[in-house]
Amino acid sequence: MIRIIEPRFSEEEKLAINGILESHQITRGEWTKRFEEEFARYLGVKHAFTVCSGTVALFIALKAIGVEGKKVVVPAMSFMATIDAVLLAGGIPIVIDVDEYYTMDVSQLEHVAKRYKPVVALPVHLYGQTANMEDILYLSERYGFLVLEDAAQAHGAEYKGKKAGALGHISAFSFYASKNVPMGEGGVIATDDDALAKQVKKWIDFGDHPAFNVRITEFQAAIGSIQLKYLDEKNRRRRQVAKRYEEHLSGYLTTPSEREGAYHVYHLYTLRHTQRDRIIQHLKDRGIDARIYYTYLLNEIRDAEHMPLERATRFKKEVFSIPVHPYLTDDEVDYIIEGVLSAAQVFIT
Ligand SMILES: Cc1ncc(COP(=O)(O)O)c(C=O)c1O
Repeated sequence: MIRIIEPRFSEEEKLAINGILESHQITRGEWTKRFEEEFARYLGVKHAFTVCSGTVALFIALKAIGVEGKKVVVPAMSFMATIDAVLLAGGIPIVIDVDEYYTMDVSQLEHVAKRYKPVVALPVHLYGQTANMEDILYLSERYGFLVLEDAAQAHGAEYKGKKAGALGHISAFSFYASKNVPMGEGGVIATDDDALAKQVKKWIDFGDHPAFNVRITEFQAAIGSIQLKYLDEKNRRRRQVAKRYEEHLSGYLTTPSEREGAYHVYHLYTLRHTQRDRIIQHLKDRGIDARIYYTYLLNEIRDAEHMPLERATRFKKEVFSIPVHPYLTDDEVDYIIEGVLSAAQVFIT
């Protein structure tokens, strides 16, 4: 089976893990500090705090802002953690539609900003491409809300020369096993804002109020630090694979397009087709893993007010993703293209 997600590790990680075992400093030591510094430097922000998951990173970022009883705008298409974090932090989610790039629709954002006076917009850089941050930040100034980026799928993505996670006021990353920087489990809250960073710290170092232990171990930090070194190179390979898919598949299915000014890092390569279930089966029969991200809209799985979701509702029925990880060989890429094209001949009319 050609897997859709494939974290890989080398001697470098093994050596680091052995070193940690021998040092007996297995949590909150040099590796964790180093990773936080490296990640902040990589993004170009002052603060990066490691936590145990992306969901917890979102939750703490929302708590740091203070969203209890207040409205938070989320896009309809994302992993459920995006809306769960809002609900757990005591916020009231308002779900809006996506644009043609699968990210927060800015015209609906303006509409709900006027009508609901939200405190936060939570754009998700879905599949590895940033939302329309220029317009979102313009609306944030105009209507006085903060922007929390869900950058769980966008390590290394850029928009107009700045890294995803450094575009809004605060951001959350996940280092779950499938992500472009995999750690197994883990998260980061990043911000350039000292006041927000101070609030974040209260949820990390036990102190002012009851909090959870959200630490990661040295093992995770070491893996994250080593994986981060190769992130840019691996993202370049993802883009190369995506380019080949685009060249061969765009006449037959709806391929992802890159927003002007964006650097897409293809965490997932997501196609659209009305016959997607049959295409997925056809690919699986040929040993190619293809999956749907996601089978639900956020307002369908949790109780939330929502705007008309015309695009998201259509996209949900048509999207499916094929392998795009950096370890695919050229032969595998050709095999996947052949698989999709042969499905195209059977099912595409
Ligand atoms: C868009 C998005 N947000 C949030 C999360 C939550 O991250 P985690 O699984 O590390 O809690 C994920 C990934 O799992 C995600 O893809």
